[in-house]
Amino acid sequence: MRIQFDSTTNAFTLTTRNTTYQMRVDRLGHLQHLYYGRRVEGDLLDDQILPANYGFSPVPYHCRAEQDFSLDIMPQEYTGCNTGDFRVSCLGVSGADGAAGADFCYVRHEILPGKYQVDGLPCVYDNGGEAETLVIHLADPVTGLQLELSYGVFDGQDVITRQARLVNGGGQTMTLSKAASACLDLPYGQWDLIHFHGRHCMERQMERLPLSRAVHTVSSRRGASSHHHNPFVILCDHAATEDAGDCYGIMLVYSGSHRTDIEVDQTGCTRAVTGIHDELFSWTLTPGEAFDTPEVILSFTHEGLARLSQNYHRIIRHNVCRGAWKLARRPILINNWEATYFHFDADQIVEIAAKAAELGVEMLVLDDGWFGKRDDDHSGLGDWFVNEEKLAGGLDPLIARINALGMQFGLWVEPEMVSEDSDLYRAHPDWALTLPGREPAMGRHQLVLDLSRPEVTDYLYQRLSALLRRHKIDYIKWDMNRNMTDVYSRALPPQRQGEVAHRYLLGLYRLLDRLTGEFPQVLFEGCAGGGGRFDAGMLAYFPQIWCSDDTDAVERLAIQHGTSFGYPVSTVGAHVSACPNHQTGRTTPLGTRAVVAMAGTFGYELDLNKLSAEEIYEVCYQVEDFRRYYHLIQDGLYYRLTDVPQEGWFTAWQTVSPDQSEALVSVVLTHPRANTPLVHLRLKGLSPQGRYRVERLSFFGTLNPPDTAGETGAARAGRTWSGAALMYAGYTLPQFFGDFPSVQIHFVRV
Ligand code: DGJ
Repeated sequence: MRIQFDSTTNAFTLTTRNTTYQMRVDRLGHLQHLYYGRRVEGDLLDDQILPANYGFSPVPYHCRAEQDFSLDIMPQEYTGCNTGDFRVSCLGVSGADGAAGADFCYVRHEILPGKYQVDGLPCVYDNGGEAETLVIHLADPVTGLQLELSYGVFDGQDVITRQARLVNGGGQTMTLSKAASACLDLPYGQWDLIHFHGRHCMERQMERLPLSRAVHTVSSRRGASSHHHNPFVILCDHAATEDAGDCYGIMLVYSGSHRTDIEVDQTGCTRAVTGIHDELFSWTLTPGEAFDTPEVILSFTHEGLARLSQNYHRIIRHNVCRGAWKLARRPILINNWEATYFHFDADQIVEIAAKAAELGVEMLVLDDGWFGKRDDDHSGLGDWFVNEEKLAGGLDPLIARINALGMQFGLWVEPEMVSEDSDLYRAHPDWALTLPGREPAMGRHQLVLDLSRPEVTDYLYQRLSALLRRHKIDYIKWDMNRNMTDVYSRALPPQRQGEVAHRYLLGLYRLLDRLTGEFPQVLFEGCAGGGGRFDAGMLAYFPQIWCSDDTDAVERLAIQHGTSFGYPVSTVGAHVSACPNHQTGRTTPLGTRAVVAMAGTFGYELDLNKLSAEEIYEVCYQVEDFRRYYHLIQDGLYYRLTDVPQEGWFTAWQTVSPDQSEALVSVVLTHPRANTPLVHLRLKGLSPQGRYRVERLSFFGTLNPPDTAGETGAARAGRTWSGAALMYAGYTLPQFFGDFPSVQIHFVRV
C-alpha cells in the first residue's frame, strides 16, 4: 500500500521504496505535515510537533485558552492566508469585500489508482501501475474557498508529486494574489541550499550555500523559467556528498515566472514554498471557478546527490517526456546556425549536409533565416512562409536534396515572437504584448505574441501544422529569444490583467499539446536562446532542449554539470562547433569537443567542409563512437566524478549500464599546469566483485612525457581490475600537457 489513512490518528502515510511522507489532520482540522524522509514503518511521527509557547505567535480563537498552539510554528502541508502563520505563505486571497483571509480545514479524502492529471498543465504521468493518488479536500468555512491537495506516489521511483487546486465554492467573486503549488516544512535538520543560477550562454551554474536566517528566494519574473534561475532546488544536509547524505529535490513543472522561498523559522523549521511567481500575478475566481497550480516533483534520498539526480533523470525520462521519441535513439544532426548564421542559400546548405552525410551524420537542421524577410534579427518573425530568394522553389526541393543524401530534414521556428517589421505585426499589432500608451521594451528587436489569446494560438497552429503537413519535416527546433515585458493583453478586462502571463503559458502548452499530438513522428527540440527555458514543463513536449548557446566545450562543462543535477543526458542538446569558439574565442581539441557533446544528444554545428583531412578522419570516429556508446550514455546511470568544474583542474563524469556490465568515463582537463598532478579517478556504481578491463581508451590532446610506455592503452592491455579496486583505489591517468585534453575510457566487465 503506497497510501494509508489511519482513522484513529487521522494520519496519512505515503510510502515509496526508500521514503516515508506523513501528515495528519489535527484537532482543529488543519493538515499538519509530520515527516518526509528515509523510510520509517508503523510509527506516527508526531514527536516533532509538541506544543510550544512562542511569544507573538497567535493562537487560533478556538483554543485561545492555550498559549502553546499556533499555526505560526506548526509544520503544514499548505498555508492559509492572514490567519496566524507569519512565515512565507502559499496563498493570497481576498473576497469582493476586500477581506483577505483563508483557513483551511479537512473535509474528506480520496485514494485513487494511477496518477492524477492537471487540466491544461504538463505533469508527471503513470505508465501503468506505477503510481497511486491521494486527494485531500479542505475548505475555508467562512468564504467557501476550497483547496484540493493532490499527491502522486511513485514508489519505485522514490518520487512524490504535489499539486494544489483552488475552487471558489462560495457565493462571491474572489481574487488570488498568490497561489503556490506546495509547501514543504522540515521541522528538523540544518540544510544547504543548492540552486542553479546563470545568464544567457551560462545557464544552470550550481551554487551551494548553507541556509541562513534570511529568507532565500530563487525566482524568475521573466515570463520564462529563464537562463537566470532554474525552477529546481535541492536542500541537503551540510555533510551531504555525491555518495551519502539526506537530500530533498523540489522541482516545479512549469515554464513561466516562478518563485521558491526558503525560510528557516524561529523554531528552526525549514519551510520551502514553491510555485508561480506572485509579482504581477492575480487571478479572478468567480463562484464555481477553479485555479490549478503547476505540479511539483519531490524526491528524497539519504544516499547523496548522485542518487537524487538519478531519481530525477528516471522520472523525467520515463514519466515526464512523452511520445515516440522519449526513449528512442535520436538522430545525429548537423545544424547550420554557427556555420552560416542568416547568410545561406540552398546550395550552401546542401554542401554542408553532403559532407556531414558522408561522415555518418543523419539529419540536417536548417536554422533561423529561411522564412519571411530575414537576413538578420530585425525582421521577419511571424511570417512563417519560405523566403524564396534564399530557397528558390521553396522547402520541398531542398528537402528532396537532403533526403537524397540519406538524411532527414529539420527546421527552426520561433512561433511565440513577432518582428515589428513583419506582415503579421502589420496585420495584427494588437497581438503583441504591449502596454497602452507606452513604447514596449525590445529584446532582440522583437516582441512577444499574446499567447493568452486563443486566436493567436489558433493562427500559430494553422501555420505550423500546414508546414508540417505540406513538407517532409522530421524535426522542429522551437526557439524563444526574449523574455516578457509590457505584459498586457488587449483581449482581457482590467481586473484580469494579472492573469496574462500564466494564460500565456496555458496557451503555449495547449498549442504544443495540439502540435505534438498531431505530429507524433516529429522530434521537437526546445530552445530559448539556448537553455533559457530548460524545465520539466517544456520537457513534457520536447524530449530534448538546446542546453546553451555557449558551444565552447570548457564552458559547457559547468553548464552541463549544473544541468545534470535535475535533468537526464537524453534531454541535453549538445553539439561540436568550430574553433576558435564563436562565444568565447577559445580553442579546444576537436576530440574534447566531441567528448563533451556526447554527454548530451550529440550533433555538429559547423561547416565540416572547412575541416582538415585529419579532422574529418576524427569526425568519422566520433560518429562511430557515439553510435557505439549511445545506449550506455542514454540508458546508463549518470555519476558526477568531480565537483564544480571551475574550482578543480579537471572535470570527470561517468555512466554505468543498469546491469553494471560496462561504464564510460569521460575526463576533461581544464587547467593545464607545469608538473601537473596525476588524475586519480575513483569510479562509481560498479559491481565491487565484478572484474573489469579497459575495452577502449581514447585520448585527445598531448601527454607529458609522450606516451612512450603506452600508459594510455597498450601497457595496461590484458589487465583487469575488480570493481572495488576501481571504485575505492581508483584508476590513474598519466600527466597531461597542453590545452584542454580529454580522455574517454570504456570499461567492460569480463
Ligand atoms: C538562439 C538559438 O539558441 C540558436 O541556436 C539559434 O537557433 C538562434 N537563436 C537563431 O536565431
